[in-house]
Amino acid sequence: MKKSKTITLFVCQNCGNSSPRWLGKCPECESWNTYVEEQQEKTKTAYKAKKTSDPIPITEIQSGKEDRIPTHNKELDRVLGGGFVPGSVILVGGDPGIGKSTLALQMLNDISASSNIGDSLNLLYVTGEESPEQVKLRAERIGISSNRVFVLSATSVESIIEQIKNLSPQIAVIDSIQTMYTEDLASAPGSVGQIRECTSKLMQHAKANGPAIFLVGHVTKEGAIAGPKVLEHLVDTVLYFEGGKDHPYRILRAIKNRFGSTNEIGVFEMMDVGLKEVKNPSEIFLSERPENASGSVVTPSIEGTRPILVEIQALVSPCSFGVPRRTTIGLDNNRVSLLLAVLEKRAGLQILGQDVFMNVAGGVKIEEPAIDLAISIALVSSFLNKPLDPGVVVFGEIGLAGEVRGVSQIDMRINEAQKLGFNKCVVPKINLDRVASTNNSISLVGVDSIEKAIEVFF
Ligand code: TYD
Ligand code: MG
Repeated sequence: MKKSKTITLFVCQNCGNSSPRWLGKCPECESWNTYVEEQQEKTKTAYKAKKTSDPIPITEIQSGKEDRIPTHNKELDRVLGGGFVPGSVILVGGDPGIGKSTLALQMLNDISASSNIGDSLNLLYVTGEESPEQVKLRAERIGISSNRVFVLSATSVESIIEQIKNLSPQIAVIDSIQTMYTEDLASAPGSVGQIRECTSKLMQHAKANGPAIFLVGHVTKEGAIAGPKVLEHLVDTVLYFEGGKDHPYRILRAIKNRFGSTNEIGVFEMMDVGLKEVKNPSEIFLSERPENASGSVVTPSIEGTRPILVEIQALVSPCSFGVPRRTTIGLDNNRVSLLLAVLEKRAGLQILGQDVFMNVAGGVKIEEPAIDLAISIALVSSFLNKPLDPGVVVFGEIGLAGEVRGVSQIDMRINEAQKLGFNKCVVPKINLDRVASTNNSISLVGVDSIEKAIEVFF
């Protein structure tokens, strides 16, 4: 029978590496001061080899995975790739207070409020952080009226699984995984050992019995979901809920998705009555655009499969101390430095010695290189203190020789700009031949180098 003995191990809280002795620096992930003492049970019969099944031709395997449960929340469905896949485990991470619990509860509301669900559908919200009364207060703000949403206040994974078995919900939310513990481990809730063990227990149950499990996870100071490596490879889908606290807009981003595309984003606005889907993000991100201000450029950026127009702002000012400052919000700092060097060397602007501040309006983060040209034009506009024509959008990648390179999905970018009333679009020259629609009401200007682009504008 099961013989067990407790052993003491020191476990890195960042990557889950363990050692019999305490270590100052983790040899695996090289982080400092992350080792914490944990009691682990050494069970001889812990992992029994599974009975192996015979190999079968891939064509004969029943997939049966496509009957998704749509959430009826367009933004969330887009990020998930069309809804919840039964038996899948989704992890959503984000800073405290960003709205993860609100999102989870609202999602259950949206599913329960859709017309075509019967009484057979049960949805469970397990809270380890708040009391059922607090959940009720939130539910009242959001306006939940369905009696198919159940609330359970519990932190023991064993009892939660027991309750899931009784209720057999189609979707169970666990808020949050850091407050859960399993009786098999002596370490404190929130430690890597507990998080990993709790997640894998819930996963085993999900895979065998079919409820989709939605885990809420907190993000550490460094911006990773606590116990990041151990969790991210276990679960099927990893979502990040992000956005500045000072902005009402929240962005849900897929980092990993076994059942859909990654880099899809969903945009929400935090209102008094919960999160509202933002149907046309471009309009919102451009709504407060200053008129006649230098350093402001609009660019269509593709996030996942959807184009979004964003405003890129630059402020170039004379450097008052020895080393010029480079501060960027929402953009890659290195990319901006590189573009400044290209502007100095290829376009002959004496910009490297200036303080540079850059921002993407609305608190969005953009990483694709197709916004290089927009960043450069914003910099030049602020440097020369000349505002741009407000009806122009720009996109294109810039190489180190100052050449403007082609980008993907230009039709989508141009259509989005056209939809919002822009009348001119500066694009990479090489892309001009590939524009499909010729009856554009928007005029297209092709440029092949940064100097040419600057000539077009100034
Ligand atoms: P919450 O979902 O509790 O965040 P998390 O679970 O990520 O910690 O969201 C809390 C914030 O959202 C809080 O500051 C209040 C705000 N909020 C609204 O503005 N409107 C609402 O309808 C709700 C429910 C919350
Ligand atoms: Mg919460």
